[in-house]
Amino acid sequence: MPGAIYAEGLVKTFGDVRALDGVDLDVPEGTVLGLLGPNGAGKTTAVRCLTTLLRPDSGRAVVAGIDVLKQPNEVRRSIGLSGQFAAVDEYLTGRENLQMVGQLYQMRARAAKARAGELLEQFHLAGAADRPTKTYSGGMRRRLDLAAALVVSPPVMFMDEPTTGLDPRNRQELWEVIKQLVAGGTTLLLTTQYLEEADHLAHDIAVVDHGRVIARGTSDQLKARTGGERVEVVVHEREHVRTAAEVLGGFGKGPTTVEEHTRKLTVPVTGGAKLLAEVIRELDTRGIEIDDIGLRRPTLDDVFLSLTGHVAEVKKNGPATDAGRDDESTGHKDEKESAK
Ligand SMILES: Nc1ncnc2c1ncn2[C@@H]1O[C@H](COP(=O)(O)OP(=O)(O)OP(=O)(O)O)[C@@H](O)[C@H]1O
Ligand SMILES: [Mg+2]
Repeated sequence: MPGAIYAEGLVKTFGDVRALDGVDLDVPEGTVLGLLGPNGAGKTTAVRCLTTLLRPDSGRAVVAGIDVLKQPNEVRRSIGLSGQFAAVDEYLTGRENLQMVGQLYQMRARAAKARAGELLEQFHLAGAADRPTKTYSGGMRRRLDLAAALVVSPPVMFMDEPTTGLDPRNRQELWEVIKQLVAGGTTLLLTTQYLEEADHLAHDIAVVDHGRVIARGTSDQLKARTGGERVEVVVHEREHVRTAAEVLGGFGKGPTTVEEHTRKLTVPVTGGAKLLAEVIRELDTRGIEIDDIGLRRPTLDDVFLSLTGHVAEVKKNGPATDAGRDDESTGHKDEKESAK
């Protein structure tokens, strides 16, 4: 029995770019799947195919039990979508935008008005509710767009980078709204570039790169694959970089990454604060002066580095930094697929 969102072998090409290169997804009802990937990975294309906005070249998709390619209109009635770029009418006020959405979904005028009022409160837009949205800031538009996606509560929701451009407080609040939504039984697919966000919200994560799912699992499983936390050290003297690398090597669960020019060394570890204290003692014993040291959680870059052997590519033509290395057996197999 496929989940509330199901895709099999989705392929979508734009000229010679394979934006989706055989994507399989299965999201059980009432859960959140985080689609995690760098710019150009294919996240938006996947969302557009699943929400009937784009027809895949091949593959199959079923959303809320309905075949996306055969019955797009029926699918549209069962889903909510908040796109990557806020789609609000500039000349209408925030309140009018939300009421209009309610009416498009055939709500009665009074119900649409009440719902609009609730959402404006919830998203801290009540004060600006009666101003045309062209006067809104980027974050306000983003919030209004999300509110619009929540006017009716569809059983399946798609959110494409819902918190990009929000400040930390608004991001936290949106996370709470999303959690409530899911507690109410909604199935959600959300895309993000932040492992931390997927961590907070998603039951399951699919990492995409070059139009393919390159890893799947819970956040803990993905982090375990990246070797847990990182110790990051900045040494004071450039001459000490090599010795510090030796020290860290002794504690690391994987290769140490060295950035010569910033004198920064990073190594995956397990053992938390206790281990950090040991590292500090050992560096001190060896007479290595440090400018900074800390323990941090793995980021999307760490996940990419350990899965593909290179950091997340910002553009299509080559790694964004030279931190990528070929010393892992999981070397990226699909380079040839990447666009020119
Ligand atoms: N309409 C289009 N025409 C041509 N190429 C496209 C089109 N839409 C997407 N692409 C290409 O397909 C690839 C995947 O794009 P997509 O927008 O799905 O990435 P994304 O993961 O959403 O990235 P971002 O994080 O930047 O939003 C990119 O190489 C992009 O340039
Ligand atoms: Mg996108």
